Amino acid sequence: MKKLCAYTPEDGIQTLPLMGLSLCIVYDKNLKPYVFENRCSHKDRPLDKSEWNKDTLQLICPFHKAIFSLENEGKCISGPTEAPLVFFPSEVIEGFIYIQL
Ligand code: FES
Repeated sequence: MKKLCAYTPEDGIQTLPLMGLSLCIVYDKNLKPYVFENRCSHKDRPLDKSEWNKDTLQLICPFHKAIFSLENEGKCISGPTEAPLVFFPSEVIEGFIYIQL
């Protein structure tokens, strides 16, 4: 597990760099974090302006409307690709988010 950042839940999509990657963090209604690469699996476009629904745990890419299920580790459930997002399982430990690389 790699320490990612302080656990500071907020609405919307947070972004941060890690080892040359750009990552996104979103939170569900219970403030559980979900971490994924800031890159759509369709055309490699950034996902930080996506529509995030914390009730359905679905993320909609703003470019071609692919829908990804973060409940299912970034699986694409609709849209122009079948490829999942690059998803990082995460855990909150003592006020910090850790991810599996
Ligand atoms: S770049 Fe995301 S759906 Fe095309």
